[in-house]
Amino acid sequence: MRLCGCVGACTAFFMYKSRMDQTPLLQMQGISKSFPGVQALKDIDLTVYPGEILALVGENGAGKSTLMKILNGVYSADEGAITWQGQPVAIHSPHDAQALGISMIHQELALIPYLDAGKNIYLGREPQGAIPGTVHWRKLYQQAQADLAELDLKLNVRTPVRFFSIAQQQMIEVAKALSIDARLIVMDEPTSSLTDREVDTLFSRMRSLRERGVSIVFISHRLEEVRAICDRVTVLRDGILVGTHPVAEVTTEDIIRMMVGREVGQMYERRNRAATDGVVLEVRNLSRGDRVRDVSFALRRGEILGVAGLVGAGRTELAETIFGAHPATGGEILLEGEPVHIRRPQQAIRSGIGFVPEDRKRQGLFLGMSVAANVVMAILRRLTRPVLIRWPRVEAITRESIQRLDIRTPSQAQRVRNLSGGNQQKVVIAKWLTLDPRVLILDEPTRGIDVGAKAEIYRLMHQLAERGVGIIMISSELPEVLGVSDRILVMHEGRLAGEFDARTATQNDLMNAATGTTLNKGMNPA
Ligand SMILES: Nc1ncnc2c1ncn2[C@@H]1O[C@H](COP(=O)(O)OP(=O)(O)OP(=O)(O)O)[C@@H](O)[C@H]1O
Ligand SMILES: [Mg+2]
Repeated sequence: MRLCGCVGACTAFFMYKSRMDQTPLLQMQGISKSFPGVQALKDIDLTVYPGEILALVGENGAGKSTLMKILNGVYSADEGAITWQGQPVAIHSPHDAQALGISMIHQELALIPYLDAGKNIYLGREPQGAIPGTVHWRKLYQQAQADLAELDLKLNVRTPVRFFSIAQQQMIEVAKALSIDARLIVMDEPTSSLTDREVDTLFSRMRSLRERGVSIVFISHRLEEVRAICDRVTVLRDGILVGTHPVAEVTTEDIIRMMVGREVGQMYERRNRAATDGVVLEVRNLSRGDRVRDVSFALRRGEILGVAGLVGAGRTELAETIFGAHPATGGEILLEGEPVHIRRPQQAIRSGIGFVPEDRKRQGLFLGMSVAANVVMAILRRLTRPVLIRWPRVEAITRESIQRLDIRTPSQAQRVRNLSGGNQQKVVIAKWLTLDPRVLILDEPTRGIDVGAKAEIYRLMHQLAERGVGIIMISSELPEVLGVSDRILVMHEGRLAGEFDARTATQNDLMNAATGTTLNKGMNPA
């Protein structure tokens, strides 16, 4: 294993040496960009060689997406120049970028929900039919099917994409970017909602693209992915270039130090378990069609209950059913021992259940509204007594949330759309905290969150648990589930396939239960 890693690193190093002798494919020089109240980028240089995978890393709000949006013609730089294959170029629109051979997977999914997968992949590039001006639909769907098959995806290309899971949508987005015959592909957090298996598929496609001489800029908060797939790494901090290094020459700790500018302590701190006597939430034989099947468990006060499983195992459906977003078809829910009938999210919220959804863009945030409006959204009615909104309260609550979660925003009035991805996630969490919930369900809470902010969110979860809140955390990252939870449930095909004590369980235990290989073994009846 060690030896493999070493040989791999050496080969990568020599390949990198030979690439460095070539003319760069892309050079961005002296790029600066300001938004009202924020200098997002200051004098950034970025070089990409042919056939390399360059990692672009940095904390939430460091400027990664902004830099790539400038390359893609979404924003124009205030200063700086772009050279493509040795020639100066001006990129004014994504269309210009595509014409040069630059394709981009955006951080926030950009698919059109009501169009099917095929139309989304070939939007604006539909193959011509025999009669000019018509579309050769059969060809379009055949090609789309082939694009998906290359990523091992067996999806119906005629199904509107809104019916697919986030992970599937993300893979469709990848297929779209790969279907463009690009010289450079920018991937802005392509793996944030993928499971290990999908990540493996993506990585093997990335490797074969690299062999064909295609270059990739890869943005990710998962530094082990950077180690696994990238040749060089460029680090940004607060809009400034910290440096670029061959991956083989730096350790993960080095990268973190460059990103954060300080040492980040232990990521997962095992806490002294809070007293977990009383049961706050109990779910008995809960079902929803065949997505959630006969699930029973109890959540104690002050407990962090992890829920693991593969994509499609029914974890999000379980959470949505408890929250009343989808009606249960059977079973019951008890809060503090009392049966509750939750048919709509409003009822769940009134009973003290909060839910931070997986897809913040569609379900958690009003992107066009301010940070303050989003933070107080859930308690607006309370703040509108008797008739007018009490602005000083709104301001005070927002100020506290910004401090508590370290939300990086120039002001409370900033539109949430303009925050970086990770800071948007913190706003969603802040919103639910204003409700002071008894039960908080978090679905992939650290998706797209940088290492420093992740540690902060874990600390916050611990604080809430200490205060007696029962927390359910759904996560696909096994180290996170093991590191943060007290107890772990594993789902497989809609059912509970195992229950583990987080202090003794291993990744293997969880994987086996999640894939159904040890169904019922290791299952301690609750
Ligand atoms: N359209 C915009 N208007 C105003 N400010 C913006 C806009 N886009 C980005 N910003 C700000 O620019 C800075 C850099 O944001 P950017 O999205 O590039 O960060 P990032 O490195 O991609 O972070 P993340 O890891 O969270 O995705 C942030 O402070 C952000 O709030
Ligand atoms: Mg970003």
